[in-house]
Amino acid sequence: MRRQIVIGNWKLHGDQQFVAELLRELMNGWIGVHQAEVVVCPSFVHMDLAGRTLGHSNIMLGAQDVSHFAEGAYTGDVSASMLHDLGCHYAIVGHSERRRHYGETNELVAKKFQAAQDARLVPILCVGESAKEREQGITLEVIGRQLQAVADYCGAERIARGVIAYEPLWAVGTGKIASPEQAQEVHEFIRRGLGPAGVVTRIVYGGSVTPSNAQSMFAMPDIDGALVGGAALRASDFLEICRAAE
Ligand code: 13P
Repeated sequence: MRRQIVIGNWKLHGDQQFVAELLRELMNGWIGVHQAEVVVCPSFVHMDLAGRTLGHSNIMLGAQDVSHFAEGAYTGDVSASMLHDLGCHYAIVGHSERRRHYGETNELVAKKFQAAQDARLVPILCVGESAKEREQGITLEVIGRQLQAVADYCGAERIARGVIAYEPLWAVGTGKIASPEQAQEVHEFIRRGLGPAGVVTRIVYGGSVTPSNAQSMFAMPDIDGALVGGAALRASDFLEICRAAE
């Protein structure tokens, strides 16, 4: 009922040549009809190149962030409608790196979530606890607060129409992945919190996903795909993860 989705977050990597080559390899490796949906999120400056290269291929385009403003005097920002105009379908909001390095709060993330949906992008809402919060046993409380902030601002039914990415901070870029059971516990908690609408919501796991561990994650009932960082920069690894989601 839920179509699995694998999203590559390229973060601050690559130049035009790298982007064009990686996309060519991905397109060659993902021809035809597939059960799983594949999304790549290059940097803003490479979105146009990526959109043109992908054309009508079955690989979708996503952004790594989006402004919470629709338009106006906001130097440096990129709006959801600008992204939509480039053929972008998805936008990551609230990634832990944006929360940590740029001080994004739950409230700002909620505004970005709404701005994305208002411009017909599907927001990919990232939530996750720190190592300390997990040690303290407050993981579900932290995740609950992050989701509640968006629900309070946008209404609970709108969250269910987005994609939710559970990315424990201690697993992002560390090579230390959560166990499938740890991830499943949080995914199940998130889905339950969404109520009846949550049966169709895709909840993906992110944090040190590789070809060798993807399969065991995807085998869990509430894990509907992955948000991949490092391994998304190598076509063969990323394609292997995508195939594991089918
Ligand atoms: P890694 O896969 O490199 O751990 O990154 C995960 C991530 O942050 C994806 O958004």
